[in-house]
Amino acid sequence: MEKVLILDFGGQYNQLIARRVRECNVYCEVHPYTMTVEAIKAYSPIGIIFTGGPGSVYEDDSPQVDSAVFGLGVPVLGICYGCQLLAHNLGGRVTPAQNDSAREYGKTETWYDTSCSIFKGLPEKGISWMSHGDYMAKIPVGFQLTAHSAACPNVAISDDTRRFYGVQFHPEVNHTAYGTQMIRNFLYEVCGAHGDWTMEDYKNTAIRRIRERVGSGKVLLALSGGVDSSVCAALLAEAIGSQLTCVFVDHGLMRLNEGDEVEQAFSKWSINFIRVNAESRFLLKLAGEAEPECKRKIIGEEFIRVFEEEAKKIGAVDYLAQGTIYPDVIESGAGTAAVIKSHHNVGGLPEYVDFKEIIEPLNILFKDEVRQLGRALGLPEYLVSRQPFPGPGLAIRIIGDITKEKADTLRQADFIFRDEIAKAGQDRCLSQYFAVLTNTRSVGVMGDGRTYDYTLALRAVTTDDFMTADWARVPYDVLDHISRRIVNEVHDINRIVYDITSKPPATVEWE
Ligand code: XMP
Repeated sequence: MEKVLILDFGGQYNQLIARRVRECNVYCEVHPYTMTVEAIKAYSPIGIIFTGGPGSVYEDDSPQVDSAVFGLGVPVLGICYGCQLLAHNLGGRVTPAQNDSAREYGKTETWYDTSCSIFKGLPEKGISWMSHGDYMAKIPVGFQLTAHSAACPNVAISDDTRRFYGVQFHPEVNHTAYGTQMIRNFLYEVCGAHGDWTMEDYKNTAIRRIRERVGSGKVLLALSGGVDSSVCAALLAEAIGSQLTCVFVDHGLMRLNEGDEVEQAFSKWSINFIRVNAESRFLLKLAGEAEPECKRKIIGEEFIRVFEEEAKKIGAVDYLAQGTIYPDVIESGAGTAAVIKSHHNVGGLPEYVDFKEIIEPLNILFKDEVRQLGRALGLPEYLVSRQPFPGPGLAIRIIGDITKEKADTLRQADFIFRDEIAKAGQDRCLSQYFAVLTNTRSVGVMGDGRTYDYTLALRAVTTDDFMTADWARVPYDVLDHISRRIVNEVHDINRIVYDITSKPPATVEWE
């Protein structure tokens, strides 16, 4: 199988590069920049990509690559820091950008030399996503300039003879208009890839690795019934069959009727399935807690404690499996990334977990890739294309402290929202939509009387990968109908607002 090696220099978009390569049907792996040249040779990649990173190549302690890598005869694409690394190692000069104009951040109009293999078949002008404070003051001998912007003459470089290419911008980010095409060009035009990798291969490799790791051991899967854990269940069931037990914890913060629906759906599968009703225990632990990160950590810990208890009942369970996906990892603050929120299954895990190992076979995949994997595993479309529902459930959609009464109020309102969205045929256009019970009360008038009740927020977004999202333009008349129904039917709510913030700067969930 053709393999591409991605050498990781600590940038925030590194898994996104891997994802773009996979999208082009080429297998790839991300390895730390410290990988030795012998190990690289043994890996025998058809091409190497150097990622971006926060360092400056001219600083003493900056991440470097063994320069023997340039003698392997393997094509290299350097992205941002990776581009500067190429220049720095091959006789060019990288300096801090002298003035603000050579430093570039965000969407930047860029001119490409379309005779360069990387830009082949592209328009001569497009938007690229820049994020660099350093500048290639001198490009190395043997290289040509192949792109520029208004502020910066040295945006991309190429040496067709040695097959080395560098771009200062980030082709892997959606905001770079033809970015995937550029990566495809590197893979197919420069590295000579044939595109022999598919999600079916990912499935087979994952199954093989799970079998190797688990042997004849027993695995307990934390199943929420959402897309990720359901796909994970199908994958593990195929890999290890009856060695797997799926445990679904109903923490009392599921949507209306959801606990019963999950149980019904999974009892039809030929897997070991256990439902644990744990509403009172979760509500007790959460009582009086209003701080979002604390709520997440309480839930993360309580889940683990329930799984540990169930594992003891089953006996000799060494492995806990979770349907963690890549955005959960990165938002919980992996490596040098900032903590945005502690996803219950990553940053929300307690320090001590009484399992030998945690298995997360989806943790390099993005949401839409998980859906593709689900299809490759033969899961029905309704299950695979469902909107996500977070593990902490309504706990992170009730702002302020949580009570059973508030959860019941939110459940009813959320049900009406989803029901009306489906009736209006809007569900197919939306990636995720739900209601949030704010802890703001306001004055209203109903009948002839004064009310002083909760404000409910409606949230609907469109997105591919949930790393960024746009607020959805749901038609006003649909919103109007939903608003009337909720206020009429749900006790305690007298005002509805619609969230018109994208991600970033907001996140999808309110907490
Ligand atoms: P945010 O709010 O981070 O949400 O923009 C991105 C996606 O992740 C889901 N989400 C979670 N899923 N455990 C989960 O299983 C969590 O702790 C969690 N927090 C957010 C969210 O619903 C959206 O789909």
